[in-house]
Amino acid sequence: MAGGAMVSTGPIKNYSGGMTAFVFVTCFVAASGGLIFGYDIGISGGVTSMNEFLEKFFPSVYKKMSAETNKSSQYCKFDSQLLTTFTSSLYIAALVASFFASAITRVFGRKLSMLIGGTVFLVGAIINGLASNVAMLIIGRLLLGVGVGFGNQSVPVYLSEMAPSKLRGALNMGFQLAITIGILVANLVNYGTSQMKQNGWRWSLAIAAVPAVIMTAGSLLLPDTPNSLLERGHMEKAKSMLEKIRGTSDVDDEFQDLMDATEHSKKVEHPWKNILQRRYRPQLILTILIPFFQQFTGINVIMFYAPVLFKTLGFGDNASLMSAVITGLVNVFATLVSIFTVDKYGRRFLFLEGGVQMIVCQIIVGVVIGLKFGVSGDGTLSQGYANLVLVMICLYVAAFAWSWGPLGWLVPSEIFPLEIRSAGQAINVSVNMFFTFVIAQLFLTLLCHMKFGLFFFFAAWEIIMTIFIYFFMPETKNVPIEEISRVWKQHWFWGKYIPDEAITGGIQLPGKTV
Ligand code: BGC
Repeated sequence: MAGGAMVSTGPIKNYSGGMTAFVFVTCFVAASGGLIFGYDIGISGGVTSMNEFLEKFFPSVYKKMSAETNKSSQYCKFDSQLLTTFTSSLYIAALVASFFASAITRVFGRKLSMLIGGTVFLVGAIINGLASNVAMLIIGRLLLGVGVGFGNQSVPVYLSEMAPSKLRGALNMGFQLAITIGILVANLVNYGTSQMKQNGWRWSLAIAAVPAVIMTAGSLLLPDTPNSLLERGHMEKAKSMLEKIRGTSDVDDEFQDLMDATEHSKKVEHPWKNILQRRYRPQLILTILIPFFQQFTGINVIMFYAPVLFKTLGFGDNASLMSAVITGLVNVFATLVSIFTVDKYGRRFLFLEGGVQMIVCQIIVGVVIGLKFGVSGDGTLSQGYANLVLVMICLYVAAFAWSWGPLGWLVPSEIFPLEIRSAGQAINVSVNMFFTFVIAQLFLTLLCHMKFGLFFFFAAWEIIMTIFIYFFMPETKNVPIEEISRVWKQHWFWGKYIPDEAITGGIQLPGKTV
């Protein structure tokens, strides 16, 4: 497609209408989408460290773990591909499902995708709660993954289309906040159920049904978005829906823009082919590297396996689960820091500060474990050093939660011009899911072979990504999304990829055409 720039009459618009009951309920449903994802991230580590669960489903791991004499394999006691498959299978299913979800969301609307997501997830939670063998566990996890794939694809789109434009950015980060709350809830549930005499793990897995019911019910009760109605040719319905959700009949301005945007995106026949053009190279590279780097910060080692990791380091059962609750709390509160500072200090500042803080923390953790725990893993951590490790891990989680956590999702969503935004977003989600899967699958093996060196491994990646951000990531703070091509054109490195007509080819800024 030639030209390529979207038509806009101005960067920041103040449409009529504000927060209505509809939008409020939307937030609630959106929160359930984030909770589902977060709950899954946070629940598996605690469950896989519960003795009853291991004994029932993974007896060989259980034997290895409880063998008092087998001190030399401390780093390896949880090393089992089957055990990690329990955690990782969800992400591979989510990856595959998100491709289907993207087509269904476009052709049949956001509601249907959410309904499918919620229902499949619910079935997965029930199967997991009733599981009597490993096959049921893995099938349940795969279904949860399909639910997450549909949810992650449709809920954020639904949310941003329903929200009044001035709330859009905050809601985008609100989704990440919901993820972190989901992780924390899962950590708390694990802490509670582990105190039960029997079947605690069943409750942990089955409680995932709660947010799934909210999402399913929400998708049945809520209307589809005006954008989606328009996309499917229902003009009248789209207009009255917009009036309803904005709580005013004064919506002509916004409706006209919606129609323009829909017209425009219909003209883009091959977004997937377009995105490969040289002029989109910077965005394409970033949308692959950002989710890749996000996962290679090593965050999910903590999110998935914190209780297992703490147990490996010699923390007791309760202390391990409690430590996971602590890191979960830090994660939620540090995400709030990001929400309140991202538009003030900018993306680059948070990325760079967070990066440096993560590097320092990982290196300290690596050194302490290396010195005290040794290569063979037959040492022990004294109380003081164990506390130091916990504090460093909390500072590391905080750094992630105000940098790569939310920005890993926000930045890719704001660097693309409209005509390739959906394709760009799909790449971002799938790369993220793929590397989440890789980390989930490989961590316990990596820990077994690299030992404390694993922390240096992630620190090395953090050094690379921080340097990358310093040189290659332009600031996008306060840049209206319609003007984004200009940011790339002005960049010392990426500028050469952007042809002049990309910023002169029809982007209309207020009062002038650049
Ligand atoms: C990441 C997840 C991670 C979570 C932690 C998200 O941004 O994509 O992989 O578990 O943050 O809060």
